[in-house]
Amino acid sequence: MASEEKPPAVLMKGIVKQFPGVLALDHVDFEVKAGEIHGLLGENGAGKTTLMSILYGVYKADAGEIYIHGRKVNIRSPKDAIKLGIGMVPQHFKLVMAHTVVENVILGLKEFGMVLRMKEAEKKIVELASTYGFKINPKAKIWQLSMGERQYVELLKALIRKANILILDEPTTVLTPQETRELFSTLKRMREEGKSIIFISHKLEEVKELCDRVTVLRKGRVVGTVDPKKVSLADLAKMMVGREVLFRIKKEPRKVVSEEPILKVKGLYALSDKGVMAVKNVSLEVYPGEILGIAGIAGSGQEELAEVITGMRKAEKGKVVIAGVDVTNTSPKKIFELGVAYIPESRIYVGTAPNLTIWENMIMRHHRYPPFVKNKIVLNLPYIFEFAKKRAKELNMMYSSIFAPARTLSGGNLQRLILARELAETPGRKTRLIVAVYPTRGLDVGATEYVRKVLIEQRNRGVGVLLISEDLEEILMLSDRIAVIHNGEIMGVVKAEEANIEEIGLMMGGALRKTVSEKKAQ
Ligand SMILES: Nc1ncnc2c1ncn2[C@@H]1O[C@H](COP(=O)(O)OP(=O)(O)OP(=O)(O)O)[C@@H](O)[C@H]1O
Ligand SMILES: [Mg+2]
Repeated sequence: MASEEKPPAVLMKGIVKQFPGVLALDHVDFEVKAGEIHGLLGENGAGKTTLMSILYGVYKADAGEIYIHGRKVNIRSPKDAIKLGIGMVPQHFKLVMAHTVVENVILGLKEFGMVLRMKEAEKKIVELASTYGFKINPKAKIWQLSMGERQYVELLKALIRKANILILDEPTTVLTPQETRELFSTLKRMREEGKSIIFISHKLEEVKELCDRVTVLRKGRVVGTVDPKKVSLADLAKMMVGREVLFRIKKEPRKVVSEEPILKVKGLYALSDKGVMAVKNVSLEVYPGEILGIAGIAGSGQEELAEVITGMRKAEKGKVVIAGVDVTNTSPKKIFELGVAYIPESRIYVGTAPNLTIWENMIMRHHRYPPFVKNKIVLNLPYIFEFAKKRAKELNMMYSSIFAPARTLSGGNLQRLILARELAETPGRKTRLIVAVYPTRGLDVGATEYVRKVLIEQRNRGVGVLLISEDLEEILMLSDRIAVIHNGEIMGVVKAEEANIEEIGLMMGGALRKTVSEKKAQ
């Protein structure tokens, strides 16, 4: 626990950071005690990552001072930060996929130098992992690892460099509930050792459970630092957003628009990247004007299922029919043209091209069709710029300029960009089906509320929605029917009004439900 005599592990005073068009940090004071887990909360774009990037030497502050363990420091690069014992697990991992765990962990470390000392490094990694209560195979390649394991590799990179101040930027966003619990026990062990941990998250329950103190940022300013055990979730949310947040969304009963499914999947099989059968004999239907939720622990085959439906992954067997057209193993282009909007799991690598501008990202996939293109070849730039600005405004995006690269957007604003683009309608294309994969992952409470509202609105106007989420609350709140997936197979389909959380939880763990027939569920 934090001792009062020790100077704070981190003290940041009057930090200012201006990006072109955005004052990201406006005189921020931030303090982390030695041996505490300190939560950093704030809406998307509040400045959390920027503040931590300054502490880690990625960005230089325009003004302000930093003290580490009571000593004033000048952090010009991550190298300086590492020397001071600061480690950062970034929001988006920076691992080399084709390399092994040990190669990634020691990359750039002089200590282990050449191939000869690989054995030693492996031993050290296994040791470190067991000290903090987790397991990892040092010889595994990164691409073979789950998101949880990749997170540990990033942690190991920091630990082997002897970090005693650890920054974790939304570490649980990509983890399963089980992995999250494991991570928390690892973090608690680190705290017992006297390490200081800065924990960024949008999941307020987690912050309440794990953190000793919480600092809330709003639009680049500190709103306050509180003991999370002494405030309610609603209060925390209000501090973040500056207004009351609806944790529940109103949903009218579904109107039956058509008896013809907009999406029909039959006997589908598909392989994962690792070459194992990830989707096994899946059959399901989504009707216009309904939300079919797919509940399941992340990594149960639902991501692959979404990819097959949107044409991003090959079907080994079975059929996908959209709006009456057999699209099995056709192309993402054809599926897009049928009016399918895809909100992918990965906003950075699949959903957007980070180095292209906001306007380019906004018309990706649309750019081949009028009115975005004239005479089939020339981009209609005036129209496009107008469109990008209008859509950004409609979705309340926070950005500096449509000419800025997409990577300058915060997580929540990137998600808004994808929604703006995927749901945009043109004379030749109306949205008929939305495939949404973990659509509120990494989003703040306000943005989450917004995305959920958009999905309901689309459903109300007759769009079919396939909603993949590991958040049971979200599934129950939004879905008309719920299909539960476990290990690539559908365990059963339940009407939302008949669903209870325990039953779904059991099915997520592999218990079969006598499948309610699709007809009856109508
Ligand atoms: N390199 C950059 N260039 C220009 N603007 C930037 C850059 N990095 C961040 N910004 C802007 O600074 C503001 C703060 O962004 P930051 O990434 O720190 O937010 P965040 O609190 O981490 O949000 P999220 O929860 O979505 O990750 C945002 O408005 C963002 O668009
Ligand atoms: Mg961030």
